[in-house]
Amino acid sequence: MRADYLRLADEVAARIADGTLRPGDRLPTQRAYARRRGIAPSTATRVYRELVRRGLVAGEVGRGSFVRADPQGPGRPATALAEPSAAPVDLELNHPVVPGQADLLAPALHGLLRPDALADALRPIGVAGTEIARARFAGLVACGGWTPGPEAVLFAGNGRQAIAAALTALVPPGGRLGVEALTYPGVKSLARARGLNLVALPMDAAGPDPAALAAIHAAAPLHAVYVQPRAHNPLGVCWPAARRARLAQVLAACAIPVIEDAVWSFIAGPEADAPGPFAALLPGQTVLVDSMSKRLAPGLTVGHLVAPEPMRPALAEALRGAGALPGRVPLEAMVRWIGDGTLERVCADKRADALARLRLAHTMLPAPRRPWARGSGPEAEAEAGIEQGSYFFWWELPEPLRAEPFVAAALEHGIAVTPGSAFAADPRSTPRAVRIALASPPPDVLERSLARLAELARSAG
Ligand SMILES: Cc1ncc(COP(=O)(O)O)c(C=O)c1O
Repeated sequence: MRADYLRLADEVAARIADGTLRPGDRLPTQRAYARRRGIAPSTATRVYRELVRRGLVAGEVGRGSFVRADPQGPGRPATALAEPSAAPVDLELNHPVVPGQADLLAPALHGLLRPDALADALRPIGVAGTEIARARFAGLVACGGWTPGPEAVLFAGNGRQAIAAALTALVPPGGRLGVEALTYPGVKSLARARGLNLVALPMDAAGPDPAALAAIHAAAPLHAVYVQPRAHNPLGVCWPAARRARLAQVLAACAIPVIEDAVWSFIAGPEADAPGPFAALLPGQTVLVDSMSKRLAPGLTVGHLVAPEPMRPALAEALRGAGALPGRVPLEAMVRWIGDGTLERVCADKRADALARLRLAHTMLPAPRRPWARGSGPEAEAEAGIEQGSYFFWWELPEPLRAEPFVAAALEHGIAVTPGSAFAADPRSTPRAVRIALASPPPDVLERSLARLAELARSAG
């Protein structure tokens, strides 16, 4: 027979499914629930644990338990944050487009639309793309002493396909993938779909803790780590130089393959001034994944990977196996936009736009404690990262606000933001923070919405 606590958990789950309990609703304390149901407190604890395990409830000791705004777990919608929000103001997804972008992009397409060029671009293509595309994309990531050859480049349809292929190639089913404790939700979904075990790597605003990473690997080996060293989603920071060097040492000593997600890296600065790819420090064991959906536009995207020779056959196989092939028309367009400097102009405009939006958010939203506040230690190191710009604002909510109810309240005001738990690698973790994606609304709408969020925090606090 089904255990009592499972039956009771099913009942609560059904109330969440039919909408009686809504995202952000607070559940009674375990003690009150036990009293109301006439069960032992230990049974109530098991019910709540089961609901957390199913990804339906976020809860931490002493803070209360809330219905998740982003249900997780098997059979739940994936938290890939891939679909645009239905709320009037979308501060959930970042789709940066700067004014005049289409005018900048159009001229290079004229050549591509000539019948002879188009006939060529309509032919099929494989994961190796074309010779000129490999050369252009290799040039795009080169920096300082790291100049990968064109043969190091492979292509996919978008960034998620590139990440998925790297996971398939490097981590066996059931294997252990280390990710920063706060990470891109898409990688959580992709890992779950492959039956991988996510291992949360303790981190602060300057990146993962190298000693903790070494200890975790010593206790049970990691097959790979997935990280975002530049313009981290959701924190927006870059790993400072000292942390990069220490992590490179540890990862080299442990021989752990690294998947470096560089999809947002362009926003931290042109490759010449900003911290370069982490791959430059560990070229022999890092696969860099990147895509054009943020640099240019999600409607015409290409994903790419830059990998050392020994990894390439497995990556190419994983891409082919998943049917994750690039479209040749977008690839040919990218070749032109990289070649004539259009890509860099668009990226420079986006950098300026991101910085202006980030400064606005810093001025408008009261934050009692930012992990990168000025001072000494790793937080101060990270300050350099945040100032380089990002379209992400990680808002540590003022006490006594909790993320899930705040997200639900913001939604009632027509503003979609993302609860911190969507980024937590550990489903039991419920950061008291929300991520605000700054890129999508026009600047005046953004300003009004941030003012409204600030007001909401004041009145609810
Ligand atoms: C960190 C990160 N990596 C990868 C992606 C996915 O890139 P693409 O849209 O090209 O699949 C995103 C999209 O939001 C992202 O934020």
